[in-house]
Amino acid sequence: PPISPMAIAFDAEKLTLSPEGPTLTRRMSDLEGLFRDHDAWSAAASGDDPIVYTVVSSPVPEVERELPQSITTIMPGDTAGELWMTKGHQHPDHQGEIYLALHGRGGLLMFDGERTEWLDMLPGTIGYIPPGWAHRSVNTGDEPYSFLAVYPGGAGHDYGWVLERGMGSRAFRAESGVDLRPYAE
Ligand code: F6R
Ligand code: ZN
Repeated sequence: PPISPMAIAFDAEKLTLSPEGPTLTRRMSDLEGLFRDHDAWSAAASGDDPIVYTVVSSPVPEVERELPQSITTIMPGDTAGELWMTKGHQHPDHQGEIYLALHGRGGLLMFDGERTEWLDMLPGTIGYIPPGWAHRSVNTGDEPYSFLAVYPGGAGHDYGWVLERGMGSRAFRAESGVDLRPYAE
């Protein structure tokens, strides 16, 4: 059944939602096949297997016609220089999405299969993901990077799309913040 109108309390300091839905935790071992340096990934995954990011959801369900929200927090870090990031996915029916940066420094990497786009995400930046663009978030700073996502409930997550095609670019740590390199290099 559809859910009722509701207020969701957002704590801008703690970056929590109340009431809150499910929380997802992704550790290094959940990110197989994504970092360029497989050996460095494997050592980290089989070592202390750190938490790379968490996703806290609102109680709005991920079903057609609903409009769920979630807050993703990516820890600061890199694996052989490649900045910690989300897995990245395509929405199977190409729905759009909006992100609002809340805390820390990050980037929004998008790829439509041919073109790559990078948006710097600082608190207050709204990043728009147009239909058909796969998306991955990256922590470019030295503290946790958090953002709010709002997306169609039926959007889904096609992770295989990114495993197959990549994201066009990879984001590495640099003195200026981020060094974007072609995926294959
Ligand atoms: C939803 C969305 C975000 C991500 C989240 C984690 O459509 O884009 O809520 O799901 O940032 O990233 P992934 O799903 O790529 O592991
Ligand atoms: Zn998405």
